[in-house]
Amino acid sequence: MALNKLNLAILISGRGSNMEALIESCRDPSFPAQVSVVLSNRPESKGIEIAQNHGLLTEIVDHKTFPGPSSFEAALQKALARHPVDLICLAGFMRLLSPEFVQAWPDKIINIHPSLLPDYKGLNTHERVLADGRNESGCTVHFVRPAMDAGPVIIQKKIQIKQNDTPETLAGRILEQEHVAYPEAVRFIGENRVRITNEQVTIL
Ligand code: GAR
Repeated sequence: MALNKLNLAILISGRGSNMEALIESCRDPSFPAQVSVVLSNRPESKGIEIAQNHGLLTEIVDHKTFPGPSSFEAALQKALARHPVDLICLAGFMRLLSPEFVQAWPDKIINIHPSLLPDYKGLNTHERVLADGRNESGCTVHFVRPAMDAGPVIIQKKIQIKQNDTPETLAGRILEQEHVAYPEAVRFIGENRVRITNEQVTIL
């Protein structure tokens, strides 16, 4: 492993297409990050199989096998401690992390969300965007803060909504943008170009 690359832990819960976009980017020798571990809270995640097919180390910390969030998070920390980790990338990781967990990794956890935050936090974003008759939507990569889908925005990508869009077509076009935005954000961080001042990101 190269010495000066940012070591990523990618946390997933399902399909893992954003994870795969990050893995693909890391294959480029000029990309300033490498994947140390892919971790899922669901043993059946498709993404775990994909990560293993890429020859990556994986960990499963199944939240259902713990009595509560604090023991689950303790196991998560233990699993992370087995690997070099500079940055945690939440990529469709569908568990809300506690303030204690987030504070244990200050400005070292980022997330991708399929809306133009702070609009449409949470689930069913595309349905809600369409119901509101919006004419644009998109995706956001942001630093994680204790509140759900909150924190300084690193990158947003916008798309125009078409008259005949459904939640599925919208999700598909936004996902394409997610796969561009997430590696771009990690590149900025890996190149040490990201500063946070008063909870606002500046890219140098
Ligand atoms: C992505 O669309 C991601 O933005 C979303 O889950 C999907 C995961 O897909 N995340 C959230 O909604 C987080 N609040 P993937 O497993 O194929 O990357």
